[in-house]
Amino acid sequence: MIDYGTYENLLIETRDPGIVILKLNRPKALNALNSATLKELGFALARIAAEPSVRVLVFTGEGEKAFIAGADITEMKDLSPSDGVYFSQLGHEVAKLLETMPKPTIAAVNGFALGGGTEMAISCDFILASEKAVFGQPEVGLGIIPGFGGTFRLARYVGFPRAKELIFTGRRIKADEAKAIGLCLEVYPAEGFLDQAVEVAKAIALQSASAVQKAKVLMNEFSETTGLNMKIDGEAHAFGRLMTSHDQREGMGAFMEKRKPAFQGLQASEGSK
Ligand code: COA
Repeated sequence: MIDYGTYENLLIETRDPGIVILKLNRPKALNALNSATLKELGFALARIAAEPSVRVLVFTGEGEKAFIAGADITEMKDLSPSDGVYFSQLGHEVAKLLETMPKPTIAAVNGFALGGGTEMAISCDFILASEKAVFGQPEVGLGIIPGFGGTFRLARYVGFPRAKELIFTGRRIKADEAKAIGLCLEVYPAEGFLDQAVEVAKAIALQSASAVQKAKVLMNEFSETTGLNMKIDGEAHAFGRLMTSHDQREGMGAFMEKRKPAFQGLQASEGSK
């Protein structure tokens, strides 16, 4: 029995042959990503990536409602710009592991996948969705921007115009539309969804692991990882600079108080640097 470690906010299960199911486990906060959870994820993913017997990773959320409802607004609302850069970098480390670990990674999106939820899903090799899945990048409605890779990875899935439309409006899309625009590959009934995702993982796990892993590494090189660190750095700093701006305070304050935000114009929204 492999010891993947013990985690407060993660669950890890295994299924034959060589499939690991990694579940976000903060259902009361709809699996929102706080820094403690991001650190746990970084540790667990590095451990899973290094384990030779693991062939495929399935990444999903515990509970009925959410895959990941985004980065944790309760924590983000009080971040300074430098805390913001660090928080973004923590998310990037996790996203980069999902994207670049040689083992295939499948996002099994079982519910809300907003903000950091969509960003973690698009860092995986592909996305399978339950009929309950809801995707979106609502950050601009909180006075910030996507900070875990959305500004460059989303376009790879859906093309630049659609990625811009989704990020600029922050609108949510349901599973059927996500499939129509190429964000997820398939939509499955909610009941038995995880088993369906595991079946897809099995079809991969039964192939030659070394051949599959080589294919992933080569396809990543071709598709875009060139310049990844530069993009990550640019996004993390832009994300951090928006912390403490009027619109970030207002957007996140409004979320906590369950009201609509009143944003200011351009000059006032650039932060207190
Ligand atoms: N960060 C922190 N807490 C979050 C959260 C997040 N991203 N998303 C949900 N939660 C918490 C809520 O505050 C609530 O906590 P409470 O019970 O202590 O009040 C709990 O999870 C349940 O969420 P609630 O909003 O009551 O559920 P809902 O079904 O009415 O709405 C969502 C679900 C996902 C539409 C809504 O929670 C939401 O919009 N979340 C934020 C999504 C977002 O903007 N993510 C991007 C962040 S950059």
